[in-house]
Amino acid sequence: MQTTLDMYCVMGNPVAHSRSPWIHARFAQLTQQALDYRRRLVPLQGFAEDLQQLIAEGGKGCNVTVPFKLEAAQAAHSQSPRVALAGAANTLVIDGDGRIHADNTDGLGLVADITRNAGVAITGKDVLLIGAGGAAAGVLGPLLEQQPRSITICNRTFAKAQTLVEQHAPLAAQQKVELLAQELQALEGDFDIVINATAASLQGAGTPVTARVLRPGCLAYDMMYGAAATPFLAWAQAHGATGRDGLGMLVEQAAESFALWRGVRPPSQQVLEELREVIAQETKACTR
Ligand code: ATR
Repeated sequence: MQTTLDMYCVMGNPVAHSRSPWIHARFAQLTQQALDYRRRLVPLQGFAEDLQQLIAEGGKGCNVTVPFKLEAAQAAHSQSPRVALAGAANTLVIDGDGRIHADNTDGLGLVADITRNAGVAITGKDVLLIGAGGAAAGVLGPLLEQQPRSITICNRTFAKAQTLVEQHAPLAAQQKVELLAQELQALEGDFDIVINATAASLQGAGTPVTARVLRPGCLAYDMMYGAAATPFLAWAQAHGATGRDGLGMLVEQAAESFALWRGVRPPSQQVLEELREVIAQETKACTR
């Protein structure tokens, strides 16, 4: 008898370099889950149509990456509170009737990587979040739930930082966190945790803030990983900060998605270590 595997994918454009298929295949092996997880390159104007196609093919769920996270939230029949707050989804769960539930595990992944993998508490700390696009919006709720002392958002376009603050003000008040927006050019204060949620390093534009923001011994976190994270982390480390790239966030958000789909928590720390090794070997092979 032929059995078909439960089918999942990552939908994005571009998507060719996504590490998600590797991560989910490894999670499946280690938890003895039988599933098939692939990359799915979606035409820029074709997300809704492609999602319907995935449902028609019997897909059980998907991750969603750039630039479709807003559309994914809108396409769902139901949204988790995190999606409702962020307006963006990175995980869709498809039930037997083809109904779509949207969640966002990016913020949980970031928090897990900082607190568990890096061993840095967020509670009681002063946090600077640089950027106010989809990436920043996706992580702000879970960061607030850690009850830092404050979160300051700064962004090249100040109005977007203000909008994020307004949207999250009720949660900040509930969690007793001081949440404020500052102009990027006139940023005041220093911070225990500085998170780069901009596409700035990707574009090789350097670091948009001065080293004054780095409190001695602070954690500088780039939500990017690989070569894209290097300029921000090199800058932060040169000024005494501990740098960490977003590879752990990638693995941890995947683990949260996997748990939503399969009801099983994979050993994410082991898979993160393995993935770092895979990337190190690839880098070595490239420079040989
Ligand atoms: P994402 O979903 O990855 O967050 P986005 O919504 O396009 O993508 O947001 C990109 C973020 O990077 C924004 O905060 C953007 O600033 P603006 O809101 O002013 O556009 C920020 N960004 C991109 N390039 C930048 C640069 N060269 N310097 C500073 N910020 C930059």
